[in-house]
Amino acid sequence: MGAVSLVSLTRTLAGLALGALALSGCGSSLDESGGSGSGGARSEKVRIGLLVPLSGVYAPIGEDMKAGFELYLDQHDGKLGGREVDLVTADEGEGPQTGVPAAQKLVDQNQVTAVAGVVNSATALGLRDFFHESKKPLLIANAGADDITGARKSAYVWRTSFSNGDVSAALGPAVAKEVKGGVYLVAADYAAGKEMVAGFRKTFEAAGGKVAGEKYTPFGKTQDFQPYLSAIRESGADAVFAFYAGAEAVNFVKQYKQFGLAGKTPLYGTGFLTEGGALAAQGAAAVGVKTSLHYSTELDTPVNKEFVAAYEKAAKKPPTVYAVQGYDTAAVLDKALAGAGGDGGDALVEALGKVGSVDSPRGPWKFDADHNAEQTYYLREVETSGGTAVNAVVGELE
Ligand code: PHB
Repeated sequence: MGAVSLVSLTRTLAGLALGALALSGCGSSLDESGGSGSGGARSEKVRIGLLVPLSGVYAPIGEDMKAGFELYLDQHDGKLGGREVDLVTADEGEGPQTGVPAAQKLVDQNQVTAVAGVVNSATALGLRDFFHESKKPLLIANAGADDITGARKSAYVWRTSFSNGDVSAALGPAVAKEVKGGVYLVAADYAAGKEMVAGFRKTFEAAGGKVAGEKYTPFGKTQDFQPYLSAIRESGADAVFAFYAGAEAVNFVKQYKQFGLAGKTPLYGTGFLTEGGALAAQGAAAVGVKTSLHYSTELDTPVNKEFVAAYEKAAKKPPTVYAVQGYDTAAVLDKALAGAGGDGGDALVEALGKVGSVDSPRGPWKFDADHNAEQTYYLREVETSGGTAVNAVVGELE
């Protein structure tokens, strides 16, 4: 046998041995659920998939979520459930066309124990059946698609963030109270935009509010909002409710000011409109914008103050709701992996059901019966503090 074929035989054998190790959970013996079955301290590494947008309009959101997840890991010696973590990051991109194959690769090829992340509602909806059928836990750390914890809830899908309908519904009654005339509704044209508007409209109209118009703008493609801002002005609306996030939020809020609507027609929205990097880019243009969200950097609690300081030190910028959701997802996985009787999907979801209250920078929250986050929503208003725009906490919403 020549040298070349000897090398290739050695490689083949090494590959077979590695494959066998991967299948056997790195050397431990497996029970039927795919875990060690002991439920006690386990020493082998655990491989977790992190699926976040690293490209497209939501890339800044993905960056924050990843930084939050990694901060939790750094604070816990790189371990979850007492085990070293092998974190495999994949790009969700701008929607299901990229996000679904990336998630399937994490599960089928990388053989992760669970997947965390997912920013876009359309991606989450596209992933639901795959995770449900492969009985693999999916921890959604942002995407708010209502059905994910509603009509299409699954034993294997858990959400540490919010549902679109909840975060916008929280704002409806407050706006109905503050605005006497009609409110124009405008949002990105995809699942999340539609649900944010529907949630807001429901509680807003129930509280006596009047809608002056409604418009959806092409998602990920709209950079010039002038035609929509003209339509808002022509409608004679007394205020506006908007859902935009990431790069779209920056353009909408800046152009709202440039167009002369800021200061005349009050702007409301879900908090994603004025969050983190978007707020920093909007600067003075965002002052006065009022939003609903389950987090603000300005929350005056010891847990949040400690988190803000640690995050700023690590990431060199203030945290965002996306960073908190990433951080909390790691915290939830930490507890669940520590309590699970193995790495199989069924063992892990059983442990997820026992996680209980999470002592988060956003305030305490827990999973409800549908695996959605049950939490407080805050009313926030953009103010300048020390020359920087911040989301001051004005109150708590019902
Ligand atoms: C969503 O698609 O569900 C989504 C995306 C970005 C946000 C909020 C919700 O900031």
